[in-house]
This record gives sequence, structure tokens and C-alpha cells, in this order.
Amino acid sequence: MTDRDHTDDPAETQGVRLQKVLAQAGVGSRRACEILIDEGRVEVNRRVVTEQGVRIDPDRDVVHVDGSRIPPPRRHAYLAFNKPRGVVSTMDDPEGRPTVTDYLPGRSDRLFHVGRLDTDTEGLLLLTNDGDFAHKLAHPSYEVPKTYLAQVTGVMDRATVTRLRKGITLPDGPVRPDRLKVVSRAADKCMVEIVLHEGRNHIVRRMLEAMGHPVRRLARTAVGPVQLGRLPVGETKELSREELGALLELLDRRS
Ligand code: URA
Repeated sequence: MTDRDHTDDPAETQGVRLQKVLAQAGVGSRRACEILIDEGRVEVNRRVVTEQGVRIDPDRDVVHVDGSRIPPPRRHAYLAFNKPRGVVSTMDDPEGRPTVTDYLPGRSDRLFHVGRLDTDTEGLLLLTNDGDFAHKLAHPSYEVPKTYLAQVTGVMDRATVTRLRKGITLPDGPVRPDRLKVVSRAADKCMVEIVLHEGRNHIVRRMLEAMGHPVRRLARTAVGPVQLGRLPVGETKELSREELGALLELLDRRS
């Protein structure tokens, strides 16, 4: 952040006025953003800024309004994709199976998927062309929680729920969900919601199978703060400012 005064010439390196950064991020008109600054609702690098005309580096300085992270100007694409069952989590499949690319006609911005879902799993897959972002989000050390909805065979009893919540040991090591609950029950099946912050292969299927409840269908419904919501199967949407800001915040807190 810098408070040196000069023009908004993009050739200059001394920064961009804070109210302009906020307005360009869609927070409101410049005037409305000045009022937010006056009211002490804007922070730069976690310090409240009430002075008008402060210049920041929009790519480096971290801006919050009312505690919500305002992402830097987008130089990359960030999309949510509702992957259908049967689609391979890859951009190109030598065996000719349906891939993510088939759902991105006309896009030439070299998107790739963040992590993977099993071919049989549907739901939220994030797509981007920001390598650093993708790497952090997929890296186990960032412990990004992912939410899954599993339809399993059999009705899970309380003892099984308790055992799973405490954690079980699979052949490749222990696993303990952040949260687990049975959300609906029928005669011979039930739906279980599981939040996990790790991504070993087939981890949800293996956990539930190990407890005698093979998975019939599996969907990912959230990645960190990003919810699948009502995004239709096979469709993509740009992440909103709030969603991207919340993801960046989560990655920052864990780095
Ligand atoms: N766990 C699984 O078993 N499959 C997935 O696709 C994701 C998590």
C-alpha cells in the first residue's frame, strides 16, 4: 500500500486508488466506496483505512470490506462445474470417454480442473487457469474441506455413525471426517453427508464400504465455501466475488 499521490496512469507503478479498486471489483460506485472507507468498513492488509485517496497494489494488497475478502482483479478464470456421472476428471482422454473439455465448447483459456472426482461421482469440480490457486487448493496441507452427499445401501445405525465420526483405519491409514450425518433414511438405503479435508483416492467410497454401506451414488456438494447450489448438471458458472474472496481467504489463513 502506498499513500503517494499521482495520477491513475496504468503505466505508473505506485498503485490504484482504493475506491477505484473497490468500484472495479463491483462493491459499488466510487462514491459509495468512498463512504464505506469513511465509515471505517474497509481494511487493507488487515488495517482499517479511513483516509481517502490511498493507493494500493490491487494484485498484492489484501482488501476486506466488512470483513469479506475482495479478490484482486481477475487475470484468470475461476469456474464451478457440475460434473455429470460418467465424465472423466481430465481435459483429454486417450480412450475417448467424455471429459470436462466436452462441457467447455468454445473456451480457449486453457482451463484445468482442481483435483479430481471419480468418473462415477457427480458434482462440484472447480476449473481455473490459475496454477498457483489450483495447486494450493488441491494440496493436502491446505486442508480445504469438501462436502459429499452419499446414497448408501442399508440404513446406517447410530453405532456406525459414532464409529465413523471417531475415525476408522483403512489399509492406507486412518481417516476421520470433519463432520458426518445421516440426512435421510428409507427402507433399504440412506443418505449421508460427509465433510472431509483430505482427498485420497475413492476415500468416501472406501470409508463407507468398510462400514458395510457401499455407495450407490456420490455427489460433491461443496468445496470450502463454494456450494454447488442449483447449478444444473453439466453446466459451469463463474465464481462470484464472494465465493472467490472466501476461497482466497481460506487459502491465506492456511498458508
Ligand atoms: N471420494 C470418493 O470416494 N470419490 C470421489 O470422487 C471423491 C471423494
